[in-house]
Formats: sequence, C-alpha cells, structure tokens
Amino acid sequence: MTVYAIIGGTGLTQLEGLNIRQSLPLDTPYGAPSAEIQVGEYAGREVLFLARHGHPHRVAPHQVNYRANLWALKQAGAEAILAVNAVGGIHAAMGTGHFCVPHQVIDYTSGREHTYFADDLEYVTHIDFSYPYSEPLRERLIAALAAQGCAYSSHGVYACTQGPRLETVAEIARLERDGCDIVGMTGMPEAALARELGLDYACLALVVNPAAGKSTAVITMAQIEQALHDGMGLAKATLARVLMA
Ligand code: HPA
Repeated sequence: MTVYAIIGGTGLTQLEGLNIRQSLPLDTPYGAPSAEIQVGEYAGREVLFLARHGHPHRVAPHQVNYRANLWALKQAGAEAILAVNAVGGIHAAMGTGHFCVPHQVIDYTSGREHTYFADDLEYVTHIDFSYPYSEPLRERLIAALAAQGCAYSSHGVYACTQGPRLETVAEIARLERDGCDIVGMTGMPEAALARELGLDYACLALVVNPAAGKSTAVITMAQIEQALHDGMGLAKATLARVLMA
C-alpha cells in the first residue's frame, strides 16, 4: 500500500483526527525540516504529516527549507505527497472557497534552494518536469472533491511567487497573461524536489482571497484567515476520502 504524506500549509499546521503514534525529529543533509514528522493513523490508514511552515506557523514561504522537508518525508518512508496550499484566485472561476487541483505550475520564485542536484556532482541530472504533478494522484484528489460535493476545478495553472508580500495588480495581470489561474507562494520548489526524489506529488489548493486587482477590496489577513477557517474542514475531509479510496 502506498505510503502517503500530507504537507499542510497555512491553516493546516495540525491534522486534527490524526491519531499520532510517533513524532520524528529528523535531520537531513540539508538541515532540519520545518517541524517533526508526525506518523499516525488518519481515516483508518497510516499516514505521515508535516506542517510546511512549522507548528506553530513560524516559517515564511521563502524561508521554508523545502529540501529538508521533502528529504525527511522520503526518509520517513513517504512515497506519495498530498500538498495543501492556500492560494489567491486569478481566474474568474477561482472564487474564495473554491478548490483547484492544478495540472501545471510556473515558478516565479528566486533565490530558493531548489534542487538536490547541486553539490559534489558526478554528473548533472535534468529531471523531466513537463507534467509537474502526478496524474493518478490528481485524479484521486478530483474524485474526492467530487464525492465531497465541493466547488472545484480539476485543472489550473499555479503561479508560485516569492512572497511574503502579496502581488501588485500589474504582477497579477502579467500572471494572467501568462495563463495562470491561481497564485501562491509555496508550490515551488516543493513539487520539483519531490520529482527529483522520485515521489509522486499533487496539490490541493484552496482559494482564500481574490488575487490583487481581482476585487475592489483590500486583501486583509482577517479575510484570508476566515476563508482558511471555512475551507480547511472540507480540505481535511477531501484528504480523508483520498486515503480511504
Ligand atoms: N498571492 C500569493 N499567495 C497567496 C495569496 C495571494 O493572493 N493568497 C494566499 N496565498
């Protein structure tokens, strides 16, 4: 049976309902992951859980040690990663509370440690990243969202920005011209590192605000927190369905 790991983002630093058996304080050649990896039972199945921003939430998106996080999950036995990400909505269909299972990503980040193929190399490895997300895993997420009765999109292009600030209106207009549907700060290099390690990876994105310029209102943390609070229950139920399937 595939060993799943859930990477919880903003609003999901704890997986309530996870019957924790062990907390692994792992170290890696790249440093420590954001938090201990919890091993336990969720929805009747053994699963690993890692809080991407630490628990409590303290690591900013550009400071997350993505290499350590993915390495530690693999070390703990993970084979497939379900990543949960809060995002802003760019496409008109991506209203607050909407879920999206992106099929593509564009990386706008800079200066992040983004590869394992950097030090003491005998040869350079170029991974195929044409299709950044695992299609079978995406299909599982989509089936779970459909069964859950959520508003969702089965496709979308995820723009990953550097953060931690939100974008300007012109930046979002550019991302839209590039074909992006949602925008977040944590999708990369996480997805690429998973591929480098041979881990299946898919993203469950929850829209928590209209991206800059997509609404006349100022984007507030209170609004984002409310949307996270409202949406994470459904996100957790969706994850549970994936694990039970
Ligand atoms: N932009 C980038 N990242 C985000 C946003 C946004 O509007 N909302 C949540 N994460």
